[in-house]
Amino acid sequence: MKVPFYGHVKQYHNIKSEIDKNMHEVLESGNYVMGPMLNRFEQELAAYHGMKHAIGVGNGTDALWLSFIALGIGPGDECITTTNTFFATAEAIWVANATAVFVDSDPKTNCIDPTRIEAAITPKTKALVPVHLYGQCADMKAIRKIADKHKLFVIEDNAQAIGARGDGFKIGELSDAVCTSFIIQKNLGTFGDGGAVVTNRDDLDKAVRRLRNHGSEKRSCHSMGFNSRLDDLHAGVLSAKLKHIDEWNDLRRKWSARYTACLKDGRNFTLPTETPGYRHIFHLYVIETKRPEQRDPLLDFLNKNGIDAKCHYPIAIHQQEGYPWGKQARIAGPIPNSERNAACCISLPMFPELTPEEVDFVIEKTLEWDRTAA
Ligand SMILES: Cc1ncc(COP(=O)(O)O)c(C=O)c1O
Repeated sequence: MKVPFYGHVKQYHNIKSEIDKNMHEVLESGNYVMGPMLNRFEQELAAYHGMKHAIGVGNGTDALWLSFIALGIGPGDECITTTNTFFATAEAIWVANATAVFVDSDPKTNCIDPTRIEAAITPKTKALVPVHLYGQCADMKAIRKIADKHKLFVIEDNAQAIGARGDGFKIGELSDAVCTSFIIQKNLGTFGDGGAVVTNRDDLDKAVRRLRNHGSEKRSCHSMGFNSRLDDLHAGVLSAKLKHIDEWNDLRRKWSARYTACLKDGRNFTLPTETPGYRHIFHLYVIETKRPEQRDPLLDFLNKNGIDAKCHYPIAIHQQEGYPWGKQARIAGPIPNSERNAACCISLPMFPELTPEEVDFVIEKTLEWDRTAA
């Protein structure tokens, strides 16, 4: 049996008529950039979050740095985040010419550890950038408290957790901006690149709208800006898919529960945990081998048995060759949890369209390796 890592084409086939209808509508409308379909999707996305504004942009990375720039974050300013995230979180800080400050992650959730943040704050600190890694929210209540005390912006990197919730808080409720990616592999993904900023702040909405469109609010009138818009064809795909996101996230939760129930007695790896009261939407189901030297053998074993397991992210940002490429960066305190996560992580196949047979095959092979592992 072969178990793929993604189910994009299956997902397309399952709701083909809904996607095709929206794409057809865009194609026939003659409006492909900043047209009515984008407008409609932005309203739907804002409503889904229970927030005032959503602004479609070119990708999730742009969503982050456009938000930073719109908030006035720039040279000399420090933004605190983690190194065990996708590279783009730090890259966006550097695109804004700010300084990336890295603190350790929580060993249970792999999201930023709020207890490490205050020691990293300096008079130059402007923002906290928690990443809702793998589909589970960071501890936003603790993060908000620190931000209030030190008067900092909070920008949520929500590329991986659309539809997740915390214990008594929603995504967006405790921050200035939520930045989302719609690249195909995300829980809500289009057939290519896309992103959005979601916010309750009128000033941020206005600034990001202006910046994404060549600094323009009115035809022929410009200030300095960029070109980073979500195309209407992508908005049409996303509008069709948004109606299914909760049901798809529920399926991810179902497959995760099956993995967890059957793998819980493994001797050589630990399983992801859901913080009580949270809704984890399992963008990724990431296990960690107990020892770093076990990771590649397990990955190899699964791959050789037809299971497309992967690693997210095996080389933490500060471990990348050439780091920090002349950009401003600082590691605040030891970061053993982020480094352990990078060294030991393996992502098992996780997408809504998995079949019970595929999930059981992954379980069987993972346990087979576990029995024989040194
Ligand atoms: C945590 C995180 N931040 C930012 C991004 C950047 O999004 P994009 O690839 O759409 O630029 C991604 C995904 O790719 C991500 O996983």
